[in-house]
Amino acid sequence: MVDDLLEQLRELEKEGAGSIATADGAEELERLRVDLLGRKGRLTGILRGLGGLSPEERPRVGAEANRVKEVLSARIDERKAACEVAAAPEAHVDLTLPGRARWRGGVHPVTLVVDEICDIFRDLGFSRVRGHEVETVEYNFVKLNTPLDHPAVDMHDTFYLGESLLLRTHTSPVQARVMEQFRPPVRVVVPGMVFRRDPFDASHAPGFEQLEGLAVDEGITFVDFKATISEFARRFFGPTTKTRFRPSFFPFTEPSAEVDVSCQLCGGAGCSACKRTGWMEIGGAGMVDPAVFEAVGYDPERYTGFAFGLGPARIAMQRYGIPDIRLLYENDVRFLEQFV
Ligand code: DAH
Repeated sequence: MVDDLLEQLRELEKEGAGSIATADGAEELERLRVDLLGRKGRLTGILRGLGGLSPEERPRVGAEANRVKEVLSARIDERKAACEVAAAPEAHVDLTLPGRARWRGGVHPVTLVVDEICDIFRDLGFSRVRGHEVETVEYNFVKLNTPLDHPAVDMHDTFYLGESLLLRTHTSPVQARVMEQFRPPVRVVVPGMVFRRDPFDASHAPGFEQLEGLAVDEGITFVDFKATISEFARRFFGPTTKTRFRPSFFPFTEPSAEVDVSCQLCGGAGCSACKRTGWMEIGGAGMVDPAVFEAVGYDPERYTGFAFGLGPARIAMQRYGIPDIRLLYENDVRFLEQFV
């Protein structure tokens, strides 16, 4: 008898839960409440059987009946609330709650600049390639016509990893690697990190980005070089941008130049950003030295070319008004997430 009643209660709980879960709307749920738990409902019907039980048996069935009643009643309430929200979702949204901001990463400002520079050079026919951050003395210096008594070779300026291995001090060794691998015509841009024993201060970092460029073919002249750099500057900085080439020296170019563009902030009139000069330096460049062609097995009588090395970190600082280079490398997300 007891088992029979308990079985009926279990059956009622199962069936009732099923009907509640599929009930649609408050009216139907109220009907179910009456039908299942009401005074003349099915639970009451089952409890009539209590009369046939001994006084010791009754509490067990009574307790189970109460539990089933509570469970079904709670299910009805929950289902009712869910139906109400589904019917009018806006009435249940608290518009005054502060939003839960979703984390969004940004693209590093130097990466933005590197990608933009590479996109421009791609339109001008240059492919994007990469080299090795760990280089040999041979590629970092010797093949680039840099004698081993050049100051850049010094332990004080360069991170050596062994007798002949080092962290590259510039992206120029990739010039030699590309020329050894491909016959002319060659047109590449090479972004990447370079490393120097510099103090970490507002304008120096021991590791920073460089962007190398190289174009080699028959008949390339200084005019091609100036035109290409000037066209790049107009596309990157804006159509009225002027370029200026100052004589300079690099072992791997002859002649060599420092490239300046008219200051973005004052348009060349002179301001604090350009130290009143009206110009901003964006990198070094020049015509590839014949000695470099010889070192990589190109015929210097047949081929000429130009090369350049830009500083994307410095360009990013100018573009975004970043006053201290350390901000670029400290990985503080509050700084980095501003760039999208
Ligand atoms: N490698 C030079 C540096 O790190 C920059 C440079 C100058 C690269 C002239 C070039 C170039 O390709 O032609 O200072």
